[in-house]
Amino acid sequence: MARILDGTPAAQIAEALEALAAGRLVAFPTETVYGLGADAGQDEAVRGIFAAKGRPADHPLIVHVANAEAALALARAVPPAARRLMDAFWPGPLTVIVPRREGVATAAAGGQDTIGLRCPAHPVAQALLQAASRRGLLGLAGPSANRFGRVSPTTAAHVAAEFGDEVLVLDGGPCPVGIESTIIDCSRARPVLLRPGTHTRAQIEAALGEPLLDRDAQAPRAPGTLKAHYAPRAVVRLMSTDVLRTALQVWGQTPGPVALYARTVRPAKGMLYRAMPDDAAAAARELFAALREFDERGARIIWVESPPPGPEWDGVRDRLTRAAAA
Ligand code: TXA
Ligand code: MG
Repeated sequence: MARILDGTPAAQIAEALEALAAGRLVAFPTETVYGLGADAGQDEAVRGIFAAKGRPADHPLIVHVANAEAALALARAVPPAARRLMDAFWPGPLTVIVPRREGVATAAAGGQDTIGLRCPAHPVAQALLQAASRRGLLGLAGPSANRFGRVSPTTAAHVAAEFGDEVLVLDGGPCPVGIESTIIDCSRARPVLLRPGTHTRAQIEAALGEPLLDRDAQAPRAPGTLKAHYAPRAVVRLMSTDVLRTALQVWGQTPGPVALYARTVRPAKGMLYRAMPDDAAAAARELFAALREFDERGARIIWVESPPPGPEWDGVRDRLTRAAAA
């Protein structure tokens, strides 16, 4: 198990910073999910992230920065679309992909000539990043602190369960957003949505002042955008409300390791069950913890009721669709 730091908040930040400066891995809370951090300026430390996660070396990492000024040290250019998004949504759960400054954060970028930059709003992440910046660190490379392809962690305990003692964990409580940041590629002629988060398309387009394109074949590689990702151990079946009702009738009364995660449909007798919140933000907040809980309770199959069609559900729908594709 990874070690969760204790002591006063200031002592924890100090210990985390020492470890990072020494090239160690420190998981840290953000408003979305926990990140597995390393000093983005130390390629050797960053390679430790890929090793710990079991992540292919050509899948680029996001670099977290304290503010927009710190982002400038990593970017060759900040295109106008990126600038508008940073002004509108930073600090907060949105990542921009911009051209990378040559020679910096090479390992973190996974060989790409672009870099993903994110300025988190979480107070513990902010305190850590500001301390890191004062210490002269460029920023913190940080993918979600889970093994490759698994469900992202939203508590320090989730992180501790994924890694061994090569990783320290800074505990900032449960993540208030719960699904990963919105990612927008601003490195090409027109902005492209690579991964939906909790911002709606309308909010993003209002900030951009231009249409947001969908991913196409030319979009850079992003494992978060692989079809099968974010999967619990149990098999996830995503079903419309009607199909789910029928499935429940056919399934009958036999208790078994089937779990139900639904808003409007009630479980059959003996089923593991958890109600999905009616509110999209609340559903996002608990989604990954719910999937992990079903795994822990021994579910082999999780039947999930499809979220409603509204745009505020895009992020949750995306993660469930990927979990079901695994
Ligand atoms: O909310 C989040 O974004 C969390 C927290 C910790 O900040 N981080 C996160 O990182 O979700 P990760 O690595 O699990 O997902 C980031 C996604 C990956 O799919 C990665 O391939 C993509 O962003 N990405 C990173 N840099 C990129 C780049 N230069 N071009 C294209 N995709 C990139
Ligand atoms: Mg991830």
